[in-house]
Formats: sequence, C-alpha cells, structure tokens
Amino acid sequence: MIDQLGDLLSQLDALRVRAIAELEPITTSTELDEWDVRYLGRNRGELKSLSSVMPKLSKEERPIVGQKINAVKAELERELAARREMLRQRELLQSLEKERIDVTLPGRALPAGHMHPISRTILEVTKIFVEMGFQIVQGPEVETDYYNFQALNIPEDHPARDMQDTFWVAPGEILLRTQTSPMQIRTMKQTQPPIRVVVPGKVYRNEAVDASHEAMFHQIEGLLIDEHCTMGDLKGCLERFAQILFGEKRRVRFRGSYFPFTEPSAEMDIDCPICEGMGCRLCKYSGWLEVLGSGMVHPKVLREVGYDPAKYRGFAFGMGVERIAILKYGISEIRLFSGNDLRFLRQF
Ligand code: DAH
Repeated sequence: MIDQLGDLLSQLDALRVRAIAELEPITTSTELDEWDVRYLGRNRGELKSLSSVMPKLSKEERPIVGQKINAVKAELERELAARREMLRQRELLQSLEKERIDVTLPGRALPAGHMHPISRTILEVTKIFVEMGFQIVQGPEVETDYYNFQALNIPEDHPARDMQDTFWVAPGEILLRTQTSPMQIRTMKQTQPPIRVVVPGKVYRNEAVDASHEAMFHQIEGLLIDEHCTMGDLKGCLERFAQILFGEKRRVRFRGSYFPFTEPSAEMDIDCPICEGMGCRLCKYSGWLEVLGSGMVHPKVLREVGYDPAKYRGFAFGMGVERIAILKYGISEIRLFSGNDLRFLRQF
C-alpha cells in the first residue's frame, strides 16, 4: 500500500513537472486551451485520470493524495493563468507596435496653387526697383481725361491719343486708363521730390484682339524726380534693371523715340537672350528686343504739377508686363495669360 502511495505521489510530481515544461514554449491561446484540456480537463484530463484511483486508496491515504492533487491542480491553474496573461500582454504589445501611428510621416500634401505668371513678373520687376530705392504705389483704373492725357501733355486732338484707343466711361471726361502714366501726375501732386516710385497695374485699350494685343493688360510705370538727374542716370538704372531681369550678359541699346510727356524720349532694347543677337524668330531676326519706353520728364509736365523745371529734373519709364513675360519665358501668345488654361499656367 505504502509503495502504491509513493508511486502515485511521484506520478503526480512527474505530471506537474511535465505539464509546466510543456507550457513554457506555448505561444498561442489555442495551444493553451489544448494544454488546459490535456492536463486539467474534467473528463479526460491527466490529473483527473490520476485522481480516479482515489476510491481504491485507504482512508488515511486519501487526504494525502487529495491534498497533493489539489496542490498540483492549483499550481497548474496558476501557471496557466500566468501564461495566458503573458500571451495577452505580448499580443497587445505586438498590435500596438503594428498599428502604431508614425506621427513623423509627412502628411498628404494638398495641391497648392501658385502665382500667375503676370503677378510673378510684376513681383520680379518691382523687386529690382525696390532694391534700387523705389517705392511701389498703385492708382485708380478708372481715371479722368485730365490725368490720363492732358496733364501728360496729350491735349485733345493730339495724335498720340490715336495710339491708345480709349474705353470711355463718360465720353471726354472719365475713362479706363490707357496707361499707368497718370500715376506720375498723381504722385508728383501728392508729394515733393525726391521721388522714386514704380507703379504696377492694369490698363485698358479698345484694341482689336490678336496674338500680341489684348483689351486689358498690365504696365509698370517708373518715375524718379530729383535736383540732379540726367539721361545717364536713366540709362544706368534701366541697363542694370535689364541685366538683373534678363541676365548679367545682356547688352542694352537706347533708340530715340517720342512720347508727349518726356523730352528726350528713348526706347530701350536688349540683345536677344535666345539667339544672343544672332537673329531668331523671337527677335524677328534683328538681334534686338524692345523692352520699354522712357525719357526725361518733360518741363511742361513738371510745370503742370507745380515743380520748377529749373530746379527739378527726372526720368520716367513704362513697360508692358505681358511683353516682359513673353520675352522672359519665350511665350508666343498674349491671350494665354488671360485664358485660364491650367496646362499653360501650371508651367510657371
Ligand atoms: N505710357 C507709355 C505707353 O503706354 C509708356 C511710357 C513711355 C511710359 C515712356 C513712360 C515713358 O513713363 O517715359 O505707351
């Protein structure tokens, strides 16, 4: 009998050791469940089979074995619970790791718009003059005949009016400005010399629309007034401008011209940046491109705003923004700027 008891107890110990050893490498809860059934199962569990010998034991032996069985059962249950908890923690960690949100990843970028080539050209041109000490000012697009023409030495019936066919708001009195030059007059009347301003803005002409003419376009006007100012200042300033905008290698030439509000007047050309002066389609095989009109402010204009022409002198210039953009980007069609075709606009 004693032997049988000893045998049973050591079988229980062996079972405990084996069960715990088998528990160790388990990594899934299905395997855990199988282990649970195998050792602790109420029907065919190994512990249950060992305890089926109980009835054959003596009265004294029974509590010893019973205690041992309970102890082993409690220990295995503890181990199982611990293992389950460990697996649960591990799975949790793994899923946290897997589902982690990487906040350092860049977000999905929204398509950003960008500046229209005309706005960009205005910005580039005015920036150059701002760095030379000019201020940017803007003026009204609806103007009076006085500022747009008369004060600029373009009286009624002056032939220069023919070149700027006008949209009238009130015929003979109020109009859509045909040039940014009226801001020369407004600025001079509002302030005193020294003056250095650039004026970007829209202008309107009753044009027959074609590849190089539109009824609405943009100009940038420039005006400098001081006690000492010569044609040399005009040339140096505008040459520097052309080189910054079109490239350091650019050469410029000034051709005598006529504008009613300047005397003398000159148009400035640059040597063609495409063919370097050799002749190409852009420069119409002349090697030169016309960039702007300019001149020394006419004494009549100075007198008109109450300045003494013996004391003050100045120069002025005006350029078409579309034309500058066409030259700078090699565009063949002025209508593209206002056509709102994204295939065109996205190239800038
Ligand atoms: N306003 C002139 C035009 O639209 C351009 C111009 C020429 C402006 C000479 C000037 C200038 O200030 O001096 O044709």
